[in-house]
Amino acid sequence: GPAGPGRGAGFGAGAPASVVGLLAALEGVGADPRRGGYTRPGFGREEATLHEWFAQEARARGLDIERDRNGVLWAWWDVPGGSRSNAVATGSHLDSVPGGGQYDGPLGVASALAAVDHLRLRGLSPSRPLALVVFPEEEGSRFGVACLGSRLLTGRLDPAEAAGLRDASGLTLAEALAESGLDARHLGRDQAALDRVACFVELHVEQGRGLIDRDAAVGLGSSILGHGRWKLRFTGQGNHAGTTLMADRRDPLVAAAGAVLAVRDAALAVPEARATVGRLQPLPGGTNVIASAVDLWIDARHPDDEVTAELLGSIHAAARAAAEAESCEAELSTESVSPTVHFGHALTSRLVGALGGVPVLATGAGHDAGVLAAEIPTAMLFVRNPTGISHSPEEYAADEDAEAGAVALADALQELLLV
Ligand code: GLV
Ligand code: MN
Ligand code: MN
Ligand code: MN
Repeated sequence: GPAGPGRGAGFGAGAPASVVGLLAALEGVGADPRRGGYTRPGFGREEATLHEWFAQEARARGLDIERDRNGVLWAWWDVPGGSRSNAVATGSHLDSVPGGGQYDGPLGVASALAAVDHLRLRGLSPSRPLALVVFPEEEGSRFGVACLGSRLLTGRLDPAEAAGLRDASGLTLAEALAESGLDARHLGRDQAALDRVACFVELHVEQGRGLIDRDAAVGLGSSILGHGRWKLRFTGQGNHAGTTLMADRRDPLVAAAGAVLAVRDAALAVPEARATVGRLQPLPGGTNVIASAVDLWIDARHPDDEVTAELLGSIHAAARAAAEAESCEAELSTESVSPTVHFGHALTSRLVGALGGVPVLATGAGHDAGVLAAEIPTAMLFVRNPTGISHSPEEYAADEDAEAGAVALADALQELLLV
């Protein structure tokens, strides 16, 4: 049940858990020897194992765990005798991209747990509840939609459409949810869950070089670059690699190769644009088989959402031309779109003050905080990544920076909890 500060032996006693120690418990989960790093798909076994780890760590701190109908985990530090309203919330995600690093997501969750320890050791007696939150399938690596959990929670995604999303094996989200004990008929905007929360702070490893350049361990976020995901499907004629003359082919992989270059060239032509093909799937996929179809996924980002739409228009035109040259067809569909987010100035500048003047920087990466920002005052804290590399096993945070991040998060939460 709910436990207030100072209630029961064990709370607030001893040293705070170290972020590094908390993360060490996750090292074996989803380790991917083939790709390197970690592969922890949303609503999959590895993510479920990490959710269970989080629930245990939260319970060990006397927090009350609940899982809402969209699969979001909440761990509550309640105000004694108080209700769950006007809460401060913090957290991140525990799923990963294929072959991802150790910090993207888990750093924010481990730091939230460590921050609770810091606040208890400080003897803090909050006047409002604190919720630690873990969002499922933030990366959208399994079902294609980025920030799937926070989009469902806030209603930014049609629940019936979401239920029918399929992973690479053809399993629907509804089926994956059923395996994890959730009913897809209950997906969708959860007003009651949202109404409890007054503000949200997500701590995240930085995914670029901003804090390296500023020579700072910790910073606050100003904005998230608008981004989206699209799928191009090329269809041609599947055939035999040995018997089909070169002149007789309709090879969709040749058309797709043209599209990969067109994506790069389209982004190069637009200042500040970024566009990537990181995943491409020939069907059926055999060395001696001319593909019958190719799926290719595009990630495109730009600060101006209209420019992103124009960028996609020119990519689509180039893809159609590449398809036509091969007597193939190209079809474009949208998987998810996330407009540029500017975090509210009031909350961020208040936290800059509470943290003693840390730098404020923009990020090119997407986060659940970006989805939450449309609902409630939201801020982000970034921890320096000395490699500047992310979505890769080389993503990193130095131990002392990770601990500094947890202290900064505790400072930020303390500032918010006492008012
Ligand atoms: C998530 O990390 C994204 O920015 O794609
Ligand atoms: Mn992340
Ligand atoms: Mn990520
Ligand atoms: Mn992300």
